[in-house]
Amino acid sequence: MTRHVIIGAGQAGLQIVESLRKEGFSGEIALIGDEASAPYQRPPLSKKYLLGQITAERLLFRAPEHYGRLGVELRLSTRVTAIDPAAHTVTLAEGSQLEWDRLALATGARVRKLGVPGAEDPRVHVLRGVEDAEALRQGLEQAARVVVIGGGFIGLEVAAIARKLGLEVKVVEAQSRVLPRVVAPLVSTFFHELHTGHGVRILLDQQVAALVPSADALTVQTQDGTVIPADLVVVGIGVLPNTELAEAAGLACDAGIVVDEFARTSHPHIVSAGDCTRHRNLLFAAPHRLESVQNAVDQAKVAASTMLDAPVPYAQVPWFWSDQYDVKLQMVGISTGHDSLVVRGVPGPDGFSVFYRSGDRVIAVDSINKPAEHMAARKLIAAGGQCDPERLADTSTDLKTLLQ
Ligand code: NAI
Repeated sequence: MTRHVIIGAGQAGLQIVESLRKEGFSGEIALIGDEASAPYQRPPLSKKYLLGQITAERLLFRAPEHYGRLGVELRLSTRVTAIDPAAHTVTLAEGSQLEWDRLALATGARVRKLGVPGAEDPRVHVLRGVEDAEALRQGLEQAARVVVIGGGFIGLEVAAIARKLGLEVKVVEAQSRVLPRVVAPLVSTFFHELHTGHGVRILLDQQVAALVPSADALTVQTQDGTVIPADLVVVGIGVLPNTELAEAAGLACDAGIVVDEFARTSHPHIVSAGDCTRHRNLLFAAPHRLESVQNAVDQAKVAASTMLDAPVPYAQVPWFWSDQYDVKLQMVGISTGHDSLVVRGVPGPDGFSVFYRSGDRVIAVDSINKPAEHMAARKLIAAGGQCDPERLADTSTDLKTLLQ
């Protein structure tokens, strides 16, 4: 019987499985993951889960019995150690081998480590998986002073939660503004002020030199000599794609597993989807890597279609979100390469949107507490993004009318 194997039991891995069955594949499926938990949602980990408002069980996409019903062999706490593309096998850590007709890599990404002395202290936390989140949640219960290293999504979401828990919070960011990777400076300024307004102290342009342990503190020392005592340190300085298996198997990798618009790797019978891929999307000229739920789900559907020899190209507008305090940031498109901005509304509590333009086209939009504008922006970008910037900036213009 035909057997398809999926390595990585995260959002992308599970979506591949679901799509294979939905599209009528009736052969064997093995979904292999090295985490102990069945596939679960990661976004709440840095939000409701840390606040104790949602249990680990509620994070699960599917009840355990679902996998049996779907006829899927779910192998948890199982690490794949090698892929043999010629023999069509994978080797598991315990030594056994599994054969496959089509193989999917949904290996995701792992946290980037802070390579300074003291970074291995048990008071240092990261946040990627549910076990990290549980350890951090427990750590926050015991802590009064929290230092967050990295002012990106993880850092700022954790900072907001720690403030909600009443803890003292300082954020140390290497760049000259928070969220430097993804948003325009004026959006960074909005989030900087949001956090300082909630009592967070943000230190910019600071490189951490060492974490110095003592009995009553773990002191963060920066390269300019600043010392910040902490009870708990959270490191959120980005992620690295898990490409090692693919590289060892001889698949093309370039800071990500290289795939075409059909999620095909350099091997015709191996696909890849999600955070680990450097991929083609027909809506963009250059390949890129994305860390998002949207990409995991949509690219997984493409990968499944390729595994079933009915390939459908990837052509989806990317979107992302972040929740901090009572602010929802929703992003659509990729702002890289923009040459002008249009701001709609006044940055502040009533919400606003920032339109990133390249020439006469809108290529990305950040909406802050403006969900309706975000939804309209998705349509605008999917339709090519052409529109009059003056009408865009005019809050009396209904964005929906710009699409006609
Ligand atoms: P990130 O790339 O968003 O932010 C990392 C931040 O750390 C950047 O601001 C960077 O300048 C800073 N940094 C790098 N090295 C540093 C250093 N040595 N010292 C101080 N600052 C340093 O990555 P982050 O926040 O770790 O998030 C990890 C992943 O989780 C990403 O894939 C992200 O997309 C995802 N995520 C997404 C969320 C969302 O979409 N709402 C929420 C939380 C996480």
